[in-house]
Amino acid sequence: MTKKLFVKTYGCQMNVYDSERMAEALGAGGYEQIDTPEGADMILLNTCHIREKAAEKVYSELGRLRPLREANPDLKIGVAGCVAQAEGEEIMRRQPLVDLVVGPQTYHRLPAMMEAVDRGEKALDTDFPEEDKFAHLPKLRTPKRGPTAFLTVQEGCDKFCAFCVVPYTRGAEVSRPADRLMGEARALVDRGVREITLLGQNVNAYHGAGPDGEWGLARLIREMAGIDGLDRIRFTTSHPNDMEDDLIAAHGDCDKLMPYLHLPVQSGSDKILKAMNRKHTAEQYIRLIERIRAARPDLLLSGDFIVGFPGETEDDFQATLDLVNAVGYGTAYSFKYSSRPGTPAAERKGQVSDAEASERLQRLQALLGEQQRATQDSMVGRRVQVLFEKTGREPGQMVGKSEYLHAVHVDGPEDLRGEIAAVEIVASRSNSLAGRLI
Ligand code: SAH
Ligand code: SF4
Ligand code: F3S
Repeated sequence: MTKKLFVKTYGCQMNVYDSERMAEALGAGGYEQIDTPEGADMILLNTCHIREKAAEKVYSELGRLRPLREANPDLKIGVAGCVAQAEGEEIMRRQPLVDLVVGPQTYHRLPAMMEAVDRGEKALDTDFPEEDKFAHLPKLRTPKRGPTAFLTVQEGCDKFCAFCVVPYTRGAEVSRPADRLMGEARALVDRGVREITLLGQNVNAYHGAGPDGEWGLARLIREMAGIDGLDRIRFTTSHPNDMEDDLIAAHGDCDKLMPYLHLPVQSGSDKILKAMNRKHTAEQYIRLIERIRAARPDLLLSGDFIVGFPGETEDDFQATLDLVNAVGYGTAYSFKYSSRPGTPAAERKGQVSDAEASERLQRLQALLGEQQRATQDSMVGRRVQVLFEKTGREPGQMVGKSEYLHAVHVDGPEDLRGEIAAVEIVASRSNSLAGRLI
């Protein structure tokens, strides 16, 4: 008898990838994935700890599951991901509904944990094990739902930015062996995938064992570009200090590597960058962007920013606005600093008031919004290649992504799904582009 599994994913793309792998791991134990929590025998929340709001969501979501448990006393509830890693025991204490807690590095042990849960025990595993979990997970079996896929190539982080929980929730930086990644990429392509996004918390720090010595990210990308049927490669998230020459060069000479780069800088103030432990200056970042753009002039640049880091003055914030003006982003993500327990910055003096941080965030987002709009508007009249993924909101509409990761919708037949087609951009909407098939 198959049992029903519902997985809800929060946080970054690595969690999206992990959710898929966890569903596969439980699939071997007879679980079949469904799209709603209603009717599930097992509900798994794959959580994010990056900011306070993200972490608090877990407890409110667990509260909402109570009626489902009351309706079905056999319903099992599990918490996975970065909140599980950081607060596993507290979750068990605070929320008796929870049967299982599993960290990001131990989910290959889920089948055994589920056996314990089925015996009526609680299961908690937040180890950082010796073994490579990926080597103990079942091979991907379920059909892919679309032509794009994520592939985690590197996990964890050794950089210890002063604000960030990732080194504690994901553990030390580890790169997966290149031959396994090549195998997984080929398997994805065999299942109809045409675009792969290589993932890692510091994906460009990738240095995995290859058949002829260590491979960096550029080598991995170039080798994957040799796979027939794989048309597009992307990677995220990168750190400015790991943007090596061959990776910059790949942006210029590897056709399958898409002209989009997410390269967070966090702040434009050298004082704040130093306090954040980012280990580069604003000037070094701007020079780096110049070099990358020299290799690929039409690159669309994306970034992350934090406002209100402890000690940030109005002048420091102005330096961030200056950097944004100097660089020019096609899109960006910006956040108010969120104090995270256990990180060095949480203990610092000079915490910025919430009102001030909100006001700075508004000004930064206004500027980033203008740049995003201008970038989108500049696409009108241009030809792009769109990989179509799904039907659009309007009847007869299909939606996909351009090389620059803009969402583009056109009037077109459903059999465009999974195809790459030339499109002329005719209008720029709030969060997408309208196009016409050529
Ligand atoms: N490894 C990536 C970032 C991973 S976290 C990098 O170094 O660029 C994604 C983003 O969340 C970060 O870039 C940062 O902008 C934001 N972030 C992380 N910790 C935060 C915190 N404590 N408060 C607010 N934003 C945070
Ligand atoms: Fe966090 Fe910094 Fe590591 Fe990125 S590089 S995951 S921000 S510690
Ligand atoms: Fe969140 Fe963990 Fe990803 S904290 S951003 S889910 S690495």
